[in-house]
Amino acid sequence: MRDILVGVSGASGMPLAACLLRLLAGMPGVRTHCVVSSGACAVLRAECGAGPEILTSCAHTVYQPDDLAAGPASGSWWRRNREPAAMLLVPCSMGTLGAVASGATRNLVQRAADVALKESLPLVLVTRESPLSAVHLRNMLALREAGAVIMPFSPGFYLRPQSLDAMLVQTCGRILDQIHLSHRLERWAGTTGHEDTP
Ligand SMILES: Cc1cc2nc3c(=O)[nH]c(=O)nc-3n(C[C@H](O)[C@H](O)[C@H](O)COP(=O)(O)O)c2cc1C
Repeated sequence: MRDILVGVSGASGMPLAACLLRLLAGMPGVRTHCVVSSGACAVLRAECGAGPEILTSCAHTVYQPDDLAAGPASGSWWRRNREPAAMLLVPCSMGTLGAVASGATRNLVQRAADVALKESLPLVLVTRESPLSAVHLRNMLALREAGAVIMPFSPGFYLRPQSLDAMLVQTCGRILDQIHLSHRLERWAGTTGHEDTP
């Protein structure tokens, strides 16, 4: 069993978080954990007209964002299994990005990301902001240098997605690639060099 913690913070992109949690729930060998910040609840209301349960209902374990005594707040939780846990922060607000970059974490989403970094475990931040200020860019660089993967939500049009859902699924596949979680979601393989290319 591999534990994957999905942290949801208050950036735009809640349908992406919902799609990711839905896909993870259907994956064998994966146990999904979820924590949704209070900022994310406000965005969820605006974007989906719903509460956090549309995300948390797909997770095996749900944590409260102010519960700093929860397992993911401690390094030992991350290493309790033979295969250590990984964290996907989807979507990642600039506020949460800045908190994790500075190490001054204030809720469980931020603290869990801080612990993933200090334990040198996989941490992927799917950021959502545009344009980016020098502060945002410096925070991103600090986190990249600390070992995190910064992955702006940037869908590829080369797979010719026919719907928003197709675009979200494609992005989820690329997020899962970052933590080496095998999946059968569609992937771009270039225009040449296929086995059936003459
Ligand atoms: C509808 C809505 C959309 C937002 N979109 C973004 C966004 O895309 N990126 C961002 O950094 N903040 C965005 N914000 C602002 C954050 O939600 C706000 O800074 C919040 O304090 C972040 O809290 P958190 O990082 O603890 O979840 C948005 C807020 C609302 C209400």
